[in-house]
Amino acid sequence: METSHTLDVNGVQHDVTCDPQTPLLWVLRDSLGLTGTRFGCGAGSCGACTVLLDGAPVHSCDTPMWSADGHAVTTIEHLGRPEPHPVQRALIEHQAGQCGYCLSGITVRASVLVDEAHSSGRTLTDAEVREALDGHLCRCGAHNRIVAAVIDASAGQA
Ligand code: FES
Ligand code: FES
Repeated sequence: METSHTLDVNGVQHDVTCDPQTPLLWVLRDSLGLTGTRFGCGAGSCGACTVLLDGAPVHSCDTPMWSADGHAVTTIEHLGRPEPHPVQRALIEHQAGQCGYCLSGITVRASVLVDEAHSSGRTLTDAEVREALDGHLCRCGAHNRIVAAVIDASAGQA
Protein backbone atom coordinates (compact mmCIF):
# COMPACT_ATOMS: atom_id res chain seq x y z
CA MET A 1 0.00 0.00 0.00
CA GLU A 2 1.31 3.44 -0.89
CA THR A 3 1.74 6.03 1.83
CA SER A 4 2.83 9.66 1.75
CA HIS A 5 6.26 10.77 2.85
CA THR A 6 7.90 14.13 3.37
CA LEU A 7 11.53 14.66 2.49
CA ASP A 8 13.78 17.68 2.61
CA VAL A 9 16.13 17.16 -0.32
CA ASN A 10 18.93 19.68 -0.74
CA GLY A 11 16.88 22.24 1.19
CA VAL A 12 13.67 21.75 -0.81
CA GLN A 13 10.62 20.09 0.72
CA HIS A 14 9.05 17.22 -1.26
CA ASP A 15 5.91 15.16 -0.69
CA VAL A 16 6.27 11.68 -2.16
CA THR A 17 3.63 8.98 -2.30
CA CYS A 18 5.03 5.47 -2.65
CA ASP A 19 5.30 2.06 -1.03
CA PRO A 20 7.14 2.65 2.27
CA GLN A 21 9.68 -0.04 1.32
CA THR A 22 10.72 1.87 -1.82
CA PRO A 23 14.44 2.61 -1.66
CA LEU A 24 15.31 6.27 -1.24
CA LEU A 25 17.54 5.90 -4.32
CA TRP A 26 14.54 5.18 -6.55
CA VAL A 27 12.74 8.26 -5.27
CA LEU A 28 15.77 10.51 -5.75
CA ARG A 29 16.48 9.31 -9.28
CA ASP A 30 13.06 8.40 -10.68
CA SER A 31 10.63 10.68 -8.84
CA LEU A 32 12.79 13.75 -8.21
CA GLY A 33 15.10 13.51 -11.22
CA LEU A 34 18.28 13.73 -9.13
CA THR A 35 20.31 11.30 -11.21
CA GLY A 36 23.70 12.30 -9.81
CA THR A 37 23.29 9.58 -7.19
CA ARG A 38 24.28 6.31 -8.84
CA PHE A 39 22.83 2.83 -8.78
CA GLY A 40 25.60 0.26 -8.52
CA CYS A 41 24.98 -3.01 -6.69
CA GLY A 42 21.61 -2.20 -5.13
CA ALA A 43 22.66 -4.20 -2.09
CA GLY A 44 24.63 -1.85 0.14
CA SER A 45 27.99 -3.16 -1.06
CA CYS A 46 29.53 -0.63 -3.46
CA GLY A 47 28.92 2.88 -2.10
CA ALA A 48 27.83 4.34 -5.45
CA CYS A 49 24.46 5.44 -4.07
CA THR A 50 25.77 7.27 -0.98
CA VAL A 51 23.88 10.37 0.14
CA LEU A 52 23.70 12.20 3.46
CA LEU A 53 20.73 11.60 5.73
CA ASP A 54 20.67 14.33 8.37
CA GLY A 55 24.36 14.87 7.59
CA ALA A 56 25.47 11.23 7.90
CA PRO A 57 26.43 9.06 4.89
CA VAL A 58 23.97 6.27 4.07
CA HIS A 59 23.44 3.87 1.18
CA SER A 60 20.29 5.19 -0.46
CA CYS A 61 19.74 1.80 -2.17
CA ASP A 62 19.04 0.13 1.16
CA THR A 63 17.37 3.06 2.90
CA PRO A 64 13.60 2.47 2.66
CA MET A 65 11.37 5.49 2.41
CA TRP A 66 9.74 4.77 5.77
CA SER A 67 13.09 5.40 7.44
CA ALA A 68 13.88 8.55 5.44
CA ASP A 69 10.46 10.09 6.05
CA GLY A 70 10.74 13.49 7.71
CA HIS A 71 14.53 13.64 7.37
CA ALA A 72 16.91 15.84 5.42
CA VAL A 73 18.73 14.36 2.44
CA THR A 74 21.78 15.88 0.77
CA THR A 75 22.83 14.60 -2.63
CA ILE A 76 25.80 15.27 -4.88
CA GLU A 77 23.74 17.92 -6.67
CA HIS A 78 23.90 20.07 -3.54
CA LEU A 79 27.67 19.87 -3.08
CA GLY A 80 29.51 22.45 -5.07
CA ARG A 81 26.86 25.12 -4.79
CA PRO A 82 27.62 27.93 -4.91
CA GLU A 83 31.35 27.04 -4.90
CA PRO A 84 32.90 23.63 -5.57
CA HIS A 85 33.56 21.71 -2.36
CA PRO A 86 37.31 21.29 -1.64
CA VAL A 87 36.91 17.55 -2.34
CA GLN A 88 35.52 18.33 -5.79
CA ARG A 89 38.38 20.73 -6.56
CA ALA A 90 40.95 18.18 -5.39
CA LEU A 91 39.42 15.34 -7.40
CA ILE A 92 39.61 17.51 -10.52
CA GLU A 93 43.17 18.62 -9.80
CA HIS A 94 44.28 15.01 -9.33
CA GLN A 95 42.25 13.86 -12.36
CA ALA A 96 41.12 11.28 -9.83
CA GLY A 97 38.54 9.49 -11.86
CA GLN A 98 38.18 7.67 -15.13
CA CYS A 99 34.55 6.91 -15.87
CA GLY A 100 33.46 8.81 -12.75
CA TYR A 101 30.67 6.38 -11.88
CA CYS A 102 31.90 5.88 -8.32
CA LEU A 103 32.73 9.51 -7.67
CA SER A 104 29.38 10.86 -6.63
CA GLY A 105 29.18 8.49 -3.65
CA ILE A 106 32.85 8.94 -2.82
CA THR A 107 32.59 12.72 -3.02
CA VAL A 108 29.58 12.80 -0.72
CA ARG A 109 31.29 10.61 1.90
CA ALA A 110 34.65 12.37 1.60
CA SER A 111 33.01 15.79 1.99
CA VAL A 112 31.91 14.82 5.50
CA LEU A 113 35.40 13.56 6.34
CA VAL A 114 37.07 16.69 5.03
CA ASP A 115 34.59 19.05 6.69
CA GLU A 116 35.27 17.31 10.03
CA ALA A 117 39.04 17.56 9.46
CA HIS A 118 38.73 21.28 8.67
CA SER A 119 36.70 21.91 11.81
CA SER A 120 39.29 20.17 13.93
CA GLY A 121 42.15 21.86 12.06
CA ARG A 122 44.00 18.76 10.98
CA THR A 123 45.00 16.88 7.85
CA LEU A 124 43.62 13.41 7.25
CA THR A 125 46.08 10.54 7.11
CA ASP A 126 46.33 8.06 4.27
CA ALA A 127 45.08 5.29 6.59
CA GLU A 128 42.07 7.33 7.73
CA VAL A 129 40.98 8.06 4.17
CA ARG A 130 41.45 4.46 3.05
CA GLU A 131 39.43 3.18 6.01
CA ALA A 132 36.62 5.69 5.42
CA LEU A 133 36.41 4.89 1.71
CA ASP A 134 36.86 1.15 2.17
CA GLY A 135 33.23 0.42 1.24
CA HIS A 136 33.43 2.34 -2.04
CA LEU A 137 34.29 0.32 -5.12
CA CYS A 138 35.99 1.88 -8.14
CA ARG A 139 36.13 -0.41 -11.13
CA CYS A 140 38.57 1.88 -12.88
CA GLY A 141 41.21 1.44 -10.19
CA ALA A 142 41.52 5.16 -9.44
CA HIS A 143 41.72 4.57 -5.68
CA ASN A 144 45.22 5.93 -5.14
CA ARG A 145 44.48 9.23 -6.89
CA ILE A 146 41.17 9.54 -5.06
CA VAL A 147 42.84 9.01 -1.68
CA ALA A 148 45.57 11.54 -2.52
CA ALA A 149 42.93 14.07 -3.55
CA VAL A 150 40.96 13.68 -0.33
CA ILE A 151 44.13 14.11 1.75
CA ASP A 152 44.98 17.28 -0.19
CA ALA A 153 41.46 18.59 0.30
CA SER A 154 41.75 18.08 4.05
CA ALA A 155 45.10 19.89 4.03
CA GLY A 156 43.57 22.88 2.29
CA GLN A 157 45.62 22.27 -0.82
CA ALA A 158 42.70 22.29 -3.21
S1 FES B 1 24.09 0.81 -5.12
FE1 FES B 1 23.91 1.19 -3.02
S2 FES B 1 25.71 0.37 -2.12
FE2 FES B 1 25.79 -0.21 -4.22
S1 FES C 1 36.35 6.18 -11.84
FE1 FES C 1 35.28 4.57 -12.84
S2 FES C 1 34.42 3.42 -11.23
FE2 FES C 1 35.66 4.86 -10.24
